[in-house]
Amino acid sequence: MFEELKQIRETALAELESITEADALNELSTSVLGRGGKLTAILRTMGKLSAEERAELGKRANLVKQELTERLEARKAQLAELAEQKRIEREAIDVTLPGVRRAVGAGALNPLTLIYREIRDALVGLGFTTFEGPEVEYDEYNFTLLNLPPNHPARDMQDTFYVNDKVLLRTHTSPCEARALKTLDLPFRLVIPGRCFRVDEPDASHSPVFMQMEGLVVDKNVSLADLKGTIDSFVKAVFGENVESRLRPSYFPFTEPSAEVDISCTICGGKGCSSCKGTGWMEIMGCGITNPHEIENCGHSSDEWRAFAWGVGVDRVACLKYGISDIRLIYEGDGRFLSQFK
Ligand code: DAH
Repeated sequence: MFEELKQIRETALAELESITEADALNELSTSVLGRGGKLTAILRTMGKLSAEERAELGKRANLVKQELTERLEARKAQLAELAEQKRIEREAIDVTLPGVRRAVGAGALNPLTLIYREIRDALVGLGFTTFEGPEVEYDEYNFTLLNLPPNHPARDMQDTFYVNDKVLLRTHTSPCEARALKTLDLPFRLVIPGRCFRVDEPDASHSPVFMQMEGLVVDKNVSLADLKGTIDSFVKAVFGENVESRLRPSYFPFTEPSAEVDISCTICGGKGCSSCKGTGWMEIMGCGITNPHEIENCGHSSDEWRAFAWGVGVDRVACLKYGISDIRLIYEGDGRFLSQFK
């Protein structure tokens, strides 16, 4: 039996050295030291021995057990160390290797961003600052405060995505006018860019998501002439000095008087062609002198304050300036389209 114990020890030690996997190590541990293991088996058969021999065998078996346990632990730690080292080697990055060239070139700015920046920069030069509001908006701000109370027929001018009775996806950037009037100190000049939404079947000239830029100037004494001059200056900044703008009477509940802004046709220069349907003009936005009701609704005296505003379709301006024939291209993110705007 002593011989057997010695054998178990030696075999286990030899095996230990040759093992390279943590799993195999665990198996070895169970087969020798475990409950059904070889060492336990020997101790079970001790009954046949004399009392002294029993004591001696017990002592030695314990020593063997202790030794093997320690060696197993040490080997386990060694294997873990080796594995860690291998991992580090495997994951090492040679920072001196040349980089991989990208198949596609660097990105280009979307035409909306280009137009936005041009209009904004022209206006910042006139003392404007930017302001923004949420895309998910209260009905109250999108309509009611802008002089469009519930059931007002002009609400039908814009097909609206409603979230619930009180909340909707804004149909224009005009609700930001009410937000600015309610929160900022007067006077101010703001340019307000943003994404807008309307229930529209997408086609070459309609997209259910589109971009507007609102302008709002509030002061003691502003006139239609200031509105015309401001609009003309950013139209010229975007389209060039040769392009003319004109105001044509129109209707919006939030302005009185209201106007539509046309610019001289960018294709024929005003002579008349198929793009401008022979008129020489193209429509780009709505504008007007802010309706006194809006100013009062937002908590200010309309005797004291005057304002003018506009809402320009940035997509429309981009299509005109760059000759884009289908508005959907702007939103599809196709690299072949976008790379033309570098
Ligand atoms: N919100 C209008 C639209 O989406 C455009 C507009 C017209 C904005 C007149 C204005 C404005 O601020 O004064 O059709």
